[in-house]
Amino acid sequence: MLIELKNIQKRYGGVAALRDGNLAVNAGEVHLLLGENGAGKSTLMKIVAGLVERDGGQMLWNGAEVHLKTPAEAAKIGVAMVHQESLLAPQLTVAENIFLGREESHPLGWVKRRRAVEAAARLIEQHHFPLRAEWKVEKLSPAGKQLVEICRAIQHGSSLLIFDEPTSSLSGAETEEVFRIVRTLRARRMGVIYITHRLEELRAIGDRVTILRDGQTVHRGDLAELTTNQIISHMVGRQVSSTYHRDPFPPGEPMLELEGLTVKGKIDNVSLTLRAGEIVGMAGLIGAGRTELCRAIFGVDRPDKGSIKVAGKLVRVDSPRAAVKAGIALVTEDRQITGLALPLPIAVNMTMANTEGISRFGILDLKKQATVAADYITRLRIKAQSGSQPAGRLSGGNQQKVVIAKWLFTQPRVFLFDEPTRGIDVGAKAEVFDFMHELAKSGAAILMVSSEMQELLQVADRIIVMRQGKISGELPGRTTQQEIMRLATLESGLESIS
Ligand SMILES: Nc1ncnc2c1ncn2[C@@H]1O[C@H](COP(=O)(O)OP(=O)(O)OP(=O)(O)O)[C@@H](O)[C@H]1O
Ligand SMILES: [Mg+2]
Repeated sequence: MLIELKNIQKRYGGVAALRDGNLAVNAGEVHLLLGENGAGKSTLMKIVAGLVERDGGQMLWNGAEVHLKTPAEAAKIGVAMVHQESLLAPQLTVAENIFLGREESHPLGWVKRRRAVEAAARLIEQHHFPLRAEWKVEKLSPAGKQLVEICRAIQHGSSLLIFDEPTSSLSGAETEEVFRIVRTLRARRMGVIYITHRLEELRAIGDRVTILRDGQTVHRGDLAELTTNQIISHMVGRQVSSTYHRDPFPPGEPMLELEGLTVKGKIDNVSLTLRAGEIVGMAGLIGAGRTELCRAIFGVDRPDKGSIKVAGKLVRVDSPRAAVKAGIALVTEDRQITGLALPLPIAVNMTMANTEGISRFGILDLKKQATVAADYITRLRIKAQSGSQPAGRLSGGNQQKVVIAKWLFTQPRVFLFDEPTRGIDVGAKAEVFDFMHELAKSGAAILMVSSEMQELLQVADRIIVMRQGKISGELPGRTTQQEIMRLATLESGLESIS
């Protein structure tokens, strides 16, 4: 056994993040670590990677007990981790992030730096990642950061690699490359621990499974012996369906009309109408311009050409503030834009985009704020003690749910969701989709960008596909993944679709 964790415990103040964490991984296997948001997956892995110290329990490395106090100690015995939340140094380049120890602060010699850039370039090229060694990490999208984290972890020659949701921001081609990397590591007899909320990934990659619920290991076994529904019921402790369906209804008046929207080098002459009651899906590869389109509509980037109408009226959206005023909301995977204030309470985060909604005669009604927060916490199944807990203390998926709640509370007319379910567990995804349908029913128009085609096929009334900054086609909601891929990759010749 490469690594064995027995009865691991970890408390944060009053919260038991782990009560009885058990896990055993052999060399040469890909071990899936599954569980709902807040189940304790990242905490357990941070203990293995030396980022968090356990309160109790045993950790055996090749049969001998170890106590790791720092990431450097973990790296020394051969543990590397791809983190869920980027731990990269934003002001440094891709190459520097891949090859530098985080604690290294002295300036590097010129030769060493050049070697790092060359080695990084080779690594990037080898995996066909859409990155450049000399780019600054702060300029990268969440997907780009994920790829840098992956490069960083695999270049150390470790014997255990931990991937904490490595593909949550990635689309098809990049995800396939991550799978290839994982399979290569397995073939080299390394141990791999892989955390994901994308159920369709499980069979493509996993050998054995450990499932956590509320900080306890509730199931361990071979993946082949479990159905997906069994996995889900172990995870959530109740029956949940992983498929989702709704009946479409006739769309109403135009809510969002884009006419020739252009942002130089990013999106090219995009015209599009969203009607009240509609959920329109948007597919495409990384870099196809989907996020850029959302940013332009939301006033983050200024369009060079084109117009935006909301509910039939021409609007000038030159800032996110103006967008919110015009009735547009954006949920993104990039929390720098959606602005989660990590030190502030959950309730404040949920209501800060709509303070009027919790005010009476211009005065904040804190009781109402607490009620609103408590309601979203229940409905979105957010694992928190109360709305007064700082948002930064939540697990990754639960933070994303707070972002969603924040924008739901603005009650917009046009709702842009950019990868809204990133990192959200299967049980809560259904709740998010329910909210989307309620919004649509109440007359909002919804644009949902997702790299998970399965998700688009379940939720969208129609699907628009983007490629190289342009709309390359439109499909009915009941189309196939093949059709979407065809439009997404048409003529690009970069990927062969199998
Ligand atoms: N630094 C912290 N301070 C306080 N509580 C924390 C801290 N980190 C994690 N927790 C709590 O520990 C529990 C487990 O969190 P963890 O991040 O391990 O969940 P997870 O299984 O990785 O979830 P997700 O799928 O959302 O990433 C959660 O209830 C979380 O709120
Ligand atoms: Mg996590």
